[in-house]
Amino acid sequence: MKKIAPSILSADFSRLGEEILAVEDAGVDLIHVDVMDGHFVPNITIGPPVVASIKKTARIPLDVHLMIEAPDRYIRSFADAGSDIITVHAEATSHLHRAIHLIRETGAKAGVALNPATPLAGIEQIIGDIDLLLIMTVNPGFGGQKFIESMLPKIRAARDMIDRASPDVLLEVDGGITLQNIEVVKEAGVDVFVAGSSIFLSENYGQTIKEMRTILEG
Ligand code: DX5
Ligand code: ZN
Repeated sequence: MKKIAPSILSADFSRLGEEILAVEDAGVDLIHVDVMDGHFVPNITIGPPVVASIKKTARIPLDVHLMIEAPDRYIRSFADAGSDIITVHAEATSHLHRAIHLIRETGAKAGVALNPATPLAGIEQIIGDIDLLLIMTVNPGFGGQKFIESMLPKIRAARDMIDRASPDVLLEVDGGITLQNIEVVKEAGVDVFVAGSSIFLSENYGQTIKEMRTILEG
């Protein structure tokens, strides 16, 4: 089944617990947590203590997207904070294989994210070592950006690579997913849909999520 993962980046951080419960009640599958360090991306968000607090409220798994340099240094802290999936960027470490195995040693699921300009070819040799492949459909750093259409062929190629080499890997997309484009993205073969502003800036989260679900299941 297709999964919906609201990104809390566009939630009201002063009411984070309530925001999380509201999307959970609407039937989402994962909570997507964007961690930014002001180096890998030009924005700063949250660290392990906030993830630990979220973990106390959330009843569904936490999908933690690390947009940080040298992520190896923090994998243990984010795992201890309760991350169920930890995704690192291929561009953020010269030792991606090591980072993936560090994640798996903690018991969390390991994801790898690719920026729009990063070719898929770089992860061909490690596709069998990961649980999730995240194709960025915006340049990471901010919510509310426009989906980069030219990523659709890359998403299809990622689907093919997974089907050929490691069919259990989940294919996730992140950035600019809306009710208007979620169908075409679904048709490219995606399993997990991250959506920040299109959910948290909508009038009625429940209605938006219901409409997304209808499209994904149609
Ligand atoms: C971008 C983040 C995304 C972002 C998605 O750097 O990784 O998760 O919050 O937000 P929208 O859906 O608004 O593009
Ligand atoms: Zn993200």
